[in-house]
Amino acid sequence: MPDFSGQTVVITGASTGIGRATAVAFRRAGARVVLAARSTAELEQLAAELGGPEHALPVTCDVTDPAQCQVLMDRAVAHFGGLDILVNNAGLLVSGTFEHLQPGDLERQFTVNLFGVAHCIRAALPHLKRSRGVIVNVSSVAAFVGTPTSGAYSASKAALNNLGQSLAAELRPYGIAVCTVCPYFVSGAQLARKGIIRGGSRHNPAGRRRQAPGTQTVEQVATAILKAAASRRRLMVLSPAGVAIWWVTRLAPWLVDAVLAQAMRRLSR
Ligand SMILES: NC(=O)c1ccc[n+]([C@@H]2O[C@H](COP(=O)([O-])OP(=O)(O)OC[C@H]3O[C@@H](n4cnc5c(N)ncnc54)[C@H](OP(=O)(O)O)[C@@H]3O)[C@@H](O)[C@H]2O)c1
Repeated sequence: MPDFSGQTVVITGASTGIGRATAVAFRRAGARVVLAARSTAELEQLAAELGGPEHALPVTCDVTDPAQCQVLMDRAVAHFGGLDILVNNAGLLVSGTFEHLQPGDLERQFTVNLFGVAHCIRAALPHLKRSRGVIVNVSSVAAFVGTPTSGAYSASKAALNNLGQSLAAELRPYGIAVCTVCPYFVSGAQLARKGIIRGGSRHNPAGRRRQAPGTQTVEQVATAILKAAASRRRLMVLSPAGVAIWWVTRLAPWLVDAVLAQAMRRLSR
């Protein structure tokens, strides 16, 4: 595990799932952590578990509000004296066939998964320029393939990947690295439970889902996020299944379309 002693890390979406596990992992690796999400009680409890104000600062923040993102970065810097790493992890799942999505669903998806990231990056940039720091965007394998009922989510993550690619080039002259981490399916997260799930979705609780082979734990994803931050790698695709999808979408897009068509037939049975 890399050593992050003396470094300050802001993690959005730190109240549950991958973000929570990432905060724990960074703290174990010696970092001071700033925990951001909307659930104040969960953040306060986690901050206490991680050693209190000297090591962990909870900041209630809705990433869809640029002013709250600014306050988040200002408080992090005021409390710990700087900012070295920003992990943009907060995310929302909107699931359902396009015709079941309601007005505003697609916008809500992008407001959290893309614009929320942009607000945080904008507010963090002056500080990251000073530290020649790292931005880690938590995306998804869904960025590479638009599966039935996940069009909104996939589109938001594809946009996030492209933004990350642009920013990696733009910010390199300032010594800032931009890493995109793409998990496959993850157990121990609340994404499907907390998301906006419309009829005609494979995330519909009525339709039982088996755990996909290659599913990782939140702790495994957290470890990968720390490795990405330490190595400053631009793109990290997780799980052998995720890597296989990445290759197939590039080498045999026709095969992907055939598999998706079959999945859609199964879904509509
Ligand atoms: N779970 C998977 O299978 C999977 C796979 C690939 C990628 N991912 C990505 O991993 C990231 C973390 O998700 P997760 O799986 O750990 O799900 P999760 O358990 O639902 O965590 C999502 C986190 O985001 C926070 N959040 C949501 N909306 C927010 C907002 N407007 N402002 C601030 N915080 C907000 C939530 O906290 P509050 O509700 O307290 O605000 C929560 O802490 C997401 O970007 C997701 O797309 C997940």
